[in-house]
Amino acid sequence: MKILITGGCGFVGSNIAIYLKKKIKKVKIISLDNLSRSGSIINRNRLTTNKIRNFKINIEDYKKIQKLGRFNLIIDCCAEPAIDASRKDPDRVFNTNLVGTFNILKKCIKDNSNLIFLSSSRVYSIEHLKKILPNTNLKKPIKIKKVINESFETESASSLYGFTKLASEKLIKEMFFRRNSRFMINRFGVIAGPWQFGKQDQGFVSLWVAKHFLKKKLSYIGFGGRGNQVRDVIHIDDVCEIIYLQMIRMKKIYNKTFNIGGGLKNSISLKDLSFKCQKLTTCKIKIDSVLKTSMFDVPYYVSDNSKIFKNYRWKPKRSIDRIIRDIYYWLAYNKKILKYFK
Ligand SMILES: NC(=O)c1ccc[n+]([C@@H]2O[C@H](COP(=O)([O-])OP(=O)(O)OC[C@H]3O[C@@H](n4cnc5c(N)ncnc54)[C@H](O)[C@@H]3O)[C@@H](O)[C@H]2O)c1
Repeated sequence: MKILITGGCGFVGSNIAIYLKKKIKKVKIISLDNLSRSGSIINRNRLTTNKIRNFKINIEDYKKIQKLGRFNLIIDCCAEPAIDASRKDPDRVFNTNLVGTFNILKKCIKDNSNLIFLSSSRVYSIEHLKKILPNTNLKKPIKIKKVINESFETESASSLYGFTKLASEKLIKEMFFRRNSRFMINRFGVIAGPWQFGKQDQGFVSLWVAKHFLKKKLSYIGFGGRGNQVRDVIHIDDVCEIIYLQMIRMKKIYNKTFNIGGGLKNSISLKDLSFKCQKLTTCKIKIDSVLKTSMFDVPYYVSDNSKIFKNYRWKPKRSIDRIIRDIYYWLAYNKKILKYFK
């Protein structure tokens, strides 16, 4: 079996690549990544150690992608995933995330390959998510226990990043229509774990642990600046497991869209994340308050895992404490990589 993983030197792509290489006996895994993400060289070195080759190709370059040979499966993990990039560098977001998907789809169609696409909870409408908690000044911890399923509103604006993901989903369905190739679309909530070089606007869990480890300051941004906003977090190893399940059951279950995340059990506010990081690292750091709320930010998101459970009898196993602990030990054993957390 031959698998291409795009964004293979990113956090998710590298972990999936190495997991599948260890899990499947006769498999050839190739990565495509232009190494633009900070820390991707470190992940490229991990791939090399595991005998997985990376081709340094820009996903916008179809001519080069075409030359990579034929794959049974493409797992598309390539993206500019930072929400802030939607404002700062819209061309890059559009070209990497949407033109990039188009190129991968052309390759799938030409070679008859199946596709697993990494989409995001960011496809859902910001205004509708904000209606869950209309008061943006979150003075008290959030008490509601709402989960968001696949039929939640997607019509109105969701950030350029969210748009490129939703448009990619549409494009997949369009181009795979009446073809033999099969697809799977996974709308993930926050993914976290070792080998994620987190930033304030993408990968906040590893950033939080690293900043406590380094005794450097952080900020609670928006929603009153108290850190009461809530997200659900899923461990990268749980992500690898469900991707593998989807792969091996693709003959029976295909052409579906799923929400996948940590769910209610693994939902946490930034403030509670700080407490847990303090306890683990025994460091109390300064956390500033930034009152201004970004128009792309939402106060609350928790995934409804019912559909993925119904189809695969699968749910995430690893707790939020386990996620934080695994990131902590990863940093403790790899101190050189701390320089990537600015
Ligand atoms: N991490 C999360 O919390 C999360 C949540 C939901 C969905 N996702 C999705 O999962 C996928 C993987 O996310 P991640 O966290 O690993 O991100 P990441 O930034 O760590 O990985 C993306 C990789 O793509 C590469 N890349 C970027 N632009 C490229 C281009 N033009 N050509 C070739 N390579 C390019 C980067 O160098 C990087 O290594 C993305 O599609 C993302 O939208 C991630």
